[in-house]
Amino acid sequence: MSETANKILLFDTTLRDGEQSPGATMSLSEKIRLAQQLELLGVDIIEAGFAASSAGDFECVSTVAREIRHSTVASLCRTVIEDIDRAAEALRHAKHSRIHIFIATSPLHMDVKLKLSPEEVLKATDKAVRHAVACAGDVEFSCEDASRTNPDFMVEVCRAAVAAGARTLNIPDTVGYAQPEEFAARIGYLKARIPEDIVISVHCHNDLGLAVANTLAAFRAGARQAEVTIGGIGERAGNCALEELIMSLTVRKDYYRLEHSIRTQQIFPSVRTLSRIIGRPIPVNKPVVGANAFAHEAGIHQAGVLADPATYEIMTPESIGLSSNSIVVGKHSGKNAIKAKLEGMGYHLDNAQIDLILGSVKDLADKKKDIFDEDLEALVLEEVYRLPDKYRLLHLTVQSGDSGIPPCAMLVIEIDGVRREHAQFGVGPIDAVFRGIAETTRHAPRLEQYAVNAITGGTDALGEVTVRISEKGKVAVGRGSHPDIINASARAYLNALNRLAKMQEEV
Ligand code: KIV
Ligand code: ZN
Repeated sequence: MSETANKILLFDTTLRDGEQSPGATMSLSEKIRLAQQLELLGVDIIEAGFAASSAGDFECVSTVAREIRHSTVASLCRTVIEDIDRAAEALRHAKHSRIHIFIATSPLHMDVKLKLSPEEVLKATDKAVRHAVACAGDVEFSCEDASRTNPDFMVEVCRAAVAAGARTLNIPDTVGYAQPEEFAARIGYLKARIPEDIVISVHCHNDLGLAVANTLAAFRAGARQAEVTIGGIGERAGNCALEELIMSLTVRKDYYRLEHSIRTQQIFPSVRTLSRIIGRPIPVNKPVVGANAFAHEAGIHQAGVLADPATYEIMTPESIGLSSNSIVVGKHSGKNAIKAKLEGMGYHLDNAQIDLILGSVKDLADKKKDIFDEDLEALVLEEVYRLPDKYRLLHLTVQSGDSGIPPCAMLVIEIDGVRREHAQFGVGPIDAVFRGIAETTRHAPRLEQYAVNAITGGTDALGEVTVRISEKGKVAVGRGSHPDIINASARAYLNALNRLAKMQEEV
């Protein structure tokens, strides 16, 4: 067996399939930040978007292609020449690029969705792959809904793609229908019928909770690339979760005997970065990264873990990058200390950005004794990675209590550079603030979710507020952090409105 026969490739599609998860829309700067984190994590390929689908996706693919130097950057395309040309254009400046072409091959999708015969699908595959190979050497081909495709037809389409020049064949379980043994058999069937040097990839959805199991079964049958997302986010029930797949391969290396290039200590920082960006907390019972993954409740378990953690822990928290809170910086920290600390956390900021953070650290240190990694990260997300705001909070004062006067918010907001003042009563202080903001900005969104989280322990902790709002069919998540949770709430609400405004502008 050659040295590479045991190496698997990780193709991350958080920025494409992951973003198709309802409410997981990300801004361009957030996508770039996530792509940088994915590169630090060590993923082999980053699917940055579907360049032809919108101006925003095109911009994202081309910016990620310029920024990322180690991982390959991919764009998704249909078997449509204009899609491929657009992808090639967006990937022009990539150091390593890949065009990923897909077409549906199941009878249901061919009849109902594409209205194409099997012969027409074969022709479209041949034409598109040849065109893509001429544009960019590295081409991946996917048979959408492969797990509901006749295996012989799947092999025929895959062979046509290989004959046209594709080097990677991706077999998606698009609707999460496959079962592990059955899916492994399909991969084995294909493997026996294509040239040895072609990489078989799998892309499993999680509709029946089997995405990771199906991917692992496919590896056992000879697949050597997996398409995954951070936290398993994606269309409907999501995709195969990178962290679960990688820790299975790592913890059970004795069983799988496969190599990968993931730096497992970057797993938790990656999941946390995504969670902050999309405003969705990590579920406590999530395998590998949930808060309960290393918590032991039963006395007998606690005693065992104290005697030897291996009694009830099959991996260490450190192996996935979970560290205990450590005090990192304070009032007297200099620029170099902050820069070095942030680089260790994966944030590579320029001088002006470091100065901005330094100022915020000093302000925060006046209000709060200990500043932790999480506080520093919140400041970076707040100050550096925020959207260029249409609406900005300049001042906020809130009166509430049991004096008989309803709670009242007095707000000063800047809208496109123009200062507006407004006062508003509400049922409670947050209601007053949100109503005041909605009136001033002339929006009328529905508040779907509101969550407050103390970033670290202690009553002086930074409050982090996440809101989800919807208006005219668009959903936006906003996040804000501040030692005063009412102020954090106002920032989160305005952040969500800024995202809505951006989406409406793009439309
Ligand atoms: O689920 C799917 O089939 C996909 C393809 C486009 C790869 O996302
Ligand atoms: Zn998918």
